[in-house]
Amino acid sequence: MKVNGKHYRSLWWNSEKNVLEIIDQRWLPHDFRTQTVGTMEEFADAIVEMRVRGAPLIGATAAYAMALAMKIDPSNAYLEKAWKYFNETRPTAVNLRWALNRCKDALLPLPEDQRADAALKLAHEIADEDVEINAQIGRHGLAIIQGIAINKKPGETINILTHCNAGWLATVDWGTATSPMYHAHNAGIPIHVWVDETRPRNQGALTSWELGSHGVPHTYIVDNAGGHLMQHGKVDLVIVGTDRTTRRGDVCNKIGTYLKALAAHANNVPFYVALPSPTIDWTIANGVADIPIEERSAQETTHVQGIMPDGSIGMVQVTPEGTPGGNPAFDVTPNHLVTGLITERGVTPATAEGLQAMFPEFANVK
Ligand code: MRU
Repeated sequence: MKVNGKHYRSLWWNSEKNVLEIIDQRWLPHDFRTQTVGTMEEFADAIVEMRVRGAPLIGATAAYAMALAMKIDPSNAYLEKAWKYFNETRPTAVNLRWALNRCKDALLPLPEDQRADAALKLAHEIADEDVEINAQIGRHGLAIIQGIAINKKPGETINILTHCNAGWLATVDWGTATSPMYHAHNAGIPIHVWVDETRPRNQGALTSWELGSHGVPHTYIVDNAGGHLMQHGKVDLVIVGTDRTTRRGDVCNKIGTYLKALAAHANNVPFYVALPSPTIDWTIANGVADIPIEERSAQETTHVQGIMPDGSIGMVQVTPEGTPGGNPAFDVTPNHLVTGLITERGVTPATAEGLQAMFPEFANVK
């Protein structure tokens, strides 16, 4: 998508320097900074410190990390070591494991002297595929928005609520939840987006920055406002992203998503999840029981983060000294609260049968 009139992806390969370039998202929306990533430690740090974030982008970054590993040492032992090293960077988004497994499965059968080139080619493929998947999600999501528009007066605005940032910054391009919004806006359908702030990391500010840059009308709201807006008929539909969705359609996403799903259910507001297939964990069914939830630093809750007068990123405490903070970063929305899953192949009910019919090639994965 465009930043200051120039088209950017959230990561890109610099073939002159042979390094990956990323947007350091910690500085957004205040400052647009890019950074080169050229060592194993820099790759791990980029994911752990959330310079890059969002399930699909974490996956694509991990693929480039494996390409670097194969350049350093293409042996089986180093491949396994790199897989383990990067797999431990963040626990919840399954795209990380998906990308690492895809690289490992493709590279292990190859002779060692072919692995570095093959790994880089594969990383490019994974990045390009992500863009295409998200464009397709946008087209299928657009049909949902068009369906809602039919029941409105001509020109009447459609209000969409979203949580966290499932935008182009969280993917390679387009975003997942935002892709239908961009497609609708580009098609001339009047939309307005309620953007949850998404404490404690305030990913809603990233979503606002994205939507604003693209000219999509939006309003930044506190996390607890959604239920009130739904009660008053001010939300036509909810679209969120996901970090891991189980084979029966339980949806893990940023903390607070579950509460939005409950409020949507209670108010008959359609609740859709934009789901690229690499985010499906076919190995598990029960999301509440089996998805590992990242527990982040308590300081993210007891303090608020921002840019300090000296230009550094700093934290300001909002609680009494010594107050313990708890910070689960994700939650699980059970499938019965989900109206539909918007995948790259189309929209399916959030059920085992629906997902298997959409992706029959995975029906037997356990
Ligand atoms: O902790 P984050 O910022 O990596 O969490 C991101 C989310 O929860 C997104 O909603 C999810 O990854 C979907 S991104 C298309």
